[in-house]
Amino acid sequence: MSIKIKQQRRHIILAAAALCAGFALPSAHAADPLRVGLIVPMSGPFASTGRQVEAAVRLFMQQNGNTVAGRTVEIILKDDGGLAPDVTKRLAQELISRDKVQVLAGFGLTPLAFAAAPVATQAKVPMIVMNAATSVIVQRSPYIVRTGFTLAQVTAPLAQWAAKNKIKTVMTLVSDYGPGIDAEKVFVKDFTAAGGKVVASVRAPLRNPDYSPFLARAKDAHPDALFVFVPSGEGSAVLKQFTDRGLAGAGIRLIATGDVLDDDLMPSIGNAALGVISSHHYSAAHPSAENKAYVAAFTKANPGMRPNFHSVGAYDGMHLLYAALQKTKGNSDGPALIEAMKGMSWTSVRGPVTIDPASRDLVQNVYIRKAEQKDGAVYNVEFDQVDKVKDPGVD
Ligand code: PHB
Repeated sequence: MSIKIKQQRRHIILAAAALCAGFALPSAHAADPLRVGLIVPMSGPFASTGRQVEAAVRLFMQQNGNTVAGRTVEIILKDDGGLAPDVTKRLAQELISRDKVQVLAGFGLTPLAFAAAPVATQAKVPMIVMNAATSVIVQRSPYIVRTGFTLAQVTAPLAQWAAKNKIKTVMTLVSDYGPGIDAEKVFVKDFTAAGGKVVASVRAPLRNPDYSPFLARAKDAHPDALFVFVPSGEGSAVLKQFTDRGLAGAGIRLIATGDVLDDDLMPSIGNAALGVISSHHYSAAHPSAENKAYVAAFTKANPGMRPNFHSVGAYDGMHLLYAALQKTKGNSDGPALIEAMKGMSWTSVRGPVTIDPASRDLVQNVYIRKAEQKDGAVYNVEFDQVDKVKDPGVD
């Protein structure tokens, strides 16, 4: 409501200023609204991703208004349920042909981003991947730009940290699809190259996973540590079973990507996470002024919710779109917008970021964190970092 009122007033002011200066008013085309089709899971097992993305997009627009370079930005939110690529593809097609969106955004899981990529290419519509994190996604369309992260990017620093910190043997457990396979490959490669030994690698199904047989196997193998990647939303099940099955008690350490200790879930995981080392590009406890302001504003607008890395992928996706539109002076043609996005740098709430002009992936810091009590709750507290990590890619 308040955004609408602000926007109307700004239009009047802009028109008056243009008339006084003798300028022509923006053409009807330039003044058309810019429609963004936001496709995320708002229902099903990955609904927390959609909730976080929607909250961040709303917050960004509350803070920055909904007019950029003379264009009113309109978001059309679609729930793809999180698991069916054909649904995501149909929604992307309908958003372009029926709703006339000029930008697609969101994409909770890798198979869904894969499904929409050819639609973006054919329509020459920029596709801002805010969440899905398999390295190869950006290669599926020249119109894709990613504002989240890749599993390869956050796993490589953890493999190196483990090898340097008295972890000699590891078993890996990942979800059996794109990001999990990337995480496994990079962990095995980097940990082995640093002198460690991977004693076994197992993959759990993405749909209806039961982690107990894999954890039983890990208990028997008794490595120094179990490395885990599961997509956000799944972590509490793994942590609970890790403890219940006595792996922690047997002296096996748990090391993980930050997806497992997703901030959205941390309040419910609680003490079961204490001491777990993970690596990721964002923690709600990141100690920068920008992040403190972000967490305070997000929590105020969404009581009881802690912002997670998916929210930050969305918040930065909106930043990138606004900055690119400013650069093109409101031109939303796909090739122009994508060109404007390449090479863009800004200070994100996660730290400094740049869109790599060659890959259209984000270059960013990766942090090593430990789950600890802080201000009466359990947070992933950063204690080490690798600066400006590029997606290392996965063969
Ligand atoms: C993905 O499907 O690419 C994905 C989903 C959730 C994550 C990470 C990757 O936490």
